[in-house]
Amino acid sequence: MKHLLVGVIGGGIMGRAIAYCAALNQCRAILYEISPQALDNAKEEIHRLIKGQKEKGRFSEPEAKSLKEHITFTGKMDDLAKSDLVIEAVVEDYQVKKNVFSEAESLVSKETILGTNTSSLSVTAIASACKDPSRVIGMHFFNPAYLMPLVEIVPGLASSMENVNKAREIVHGWNKTPVIAKDTPGFIVNRIARPFYGEALRILEENIADVPTIDWSMKVIGGFRMGPFELMDLIGNDVNYKVTESVFEAFYYDSRYRPSVIQKRLVEAGRLGRKTGQGFYDYAPGAQNKEPLKDIELAREIWFRIISMLINEASDALQKNIASREDIDLAMMKGVNYPLGLLKWADEIGQEKILKKLTWLQQEYGEERYRPSLLLKKMAENNQQFYS
Ligand code: NAI
Repeated sequence: MKHLLVGVIGGGIMGRAIAYCAALNQCRAILYEISPQALDNAKEEIHRLIKGQKEKGRFSEPEAKSLKEHITFTGKMDDLAKSDLVIEAVVEDYQVKKNVFSEAESLVSKETILGTNTSSLSVTAIASACKDPSRVIGMHFFNPAYLMPLVEIVPGLASSMENVNKAREIVHGWNKTPVIAKDTPGFIVNRIARPFYGEALRILEENIADVPTIDWSMKVIGGFRMGPFELMDLIGNDVNYKVTESVFEAFYYDSRYRPSVIQKRLVEAGRLGRKTGQGFYDYAPGAQNKEPLKDIELAREIWFRIISMLINEASDALQKNIASREDIDLAMMKGVNYPLGLLKWADEIGQEKILKKLTWLQQEYGEERYRPSLLLKKMAENNQQFYS
């Protein structure tokens, strides 16, 4: 699947990284962007990235030159006409995406696959703008797309299996890890990861521990590379809040996904995280952030509450056939760097222990939010493992 011509629509953070990815893998990329300013920025950014990698010794001078030649930039969508694959990465808006798909379909050949990088919209709804929706596939890359291996391949209701397989093979050929996800809100990662943030925010809200202590607990006991608050600050509290809000709405206000007022207030105050210099932490030079309370017993409790909620979510996704057991675990490891797949983790901890914790939380709080997944319950009752 090398040497393809890949048309990319939208030259923002994701589009430019996807074009770069294609070029890194011996494909030619053509990036179309509606805003001349954004097009210039995309070109500058990609060239800066190539230069940086060359300076680090990752490419030779001729390789860097060839990479640059493999990516062209245009302000006319017509120039994408000969693409073998088109990947759309424009703003997250149904109408804009539908217009783009309908126009792109009229330009390209019948065999061209049309991929959308949407993270929260329905692939099926976007595909409905096309005369032939069987060629539209969700191809959800993770930021930064040239580093993160995961790509969620999301068939819409009308996508043909042939096109799904082709999309998967292309991504695999780019040394990525494709997983297949059902077209449901948040796909795999943005759905299953919600309690990592949501439950940490609940623990903070209830004043069980402060921000640095919760982060420390998840890193020291759970082995996560970053704590939930560090990660929210890195992603941007505005972006993270918006994803939570959209998943919450899309699941008809299921309390498991309820956003937090604490994070909303940060967004209202413009404390978006690293990008604004302040979020849950202060990033100003010389700023003194609080030290965590290094209490191992408390850390274990915090970790166990959050991990139980994450495993519950993964088990629920498996029961609802959102993805296979292997893909659920791979997605969390390759898309958000979890140290272990959640279902594998459940086997190691023991389903019974997790079920006990969830049942206790549900009784204690009297909230639907903590209801145990039916599959987890069955596994615990029958002494079964997710992997056996
Ligand atoms: P962005 O705002 O950085 O870039 C979007 C670009 O699309 C802008 O440069 C805009 O000028 C351009 N655009 C808007 N309408 C257009 C049109 N009709 N034709 C051509 N270009 C058009 O957004 P970002 O972050 O790159 O997101 C793009 C898509 O990728 C969204 O669907 C988003 O949900 C998804 N995504 C974003 C991730 C992230 O971490 N930023 C991660 C994974 C997916």
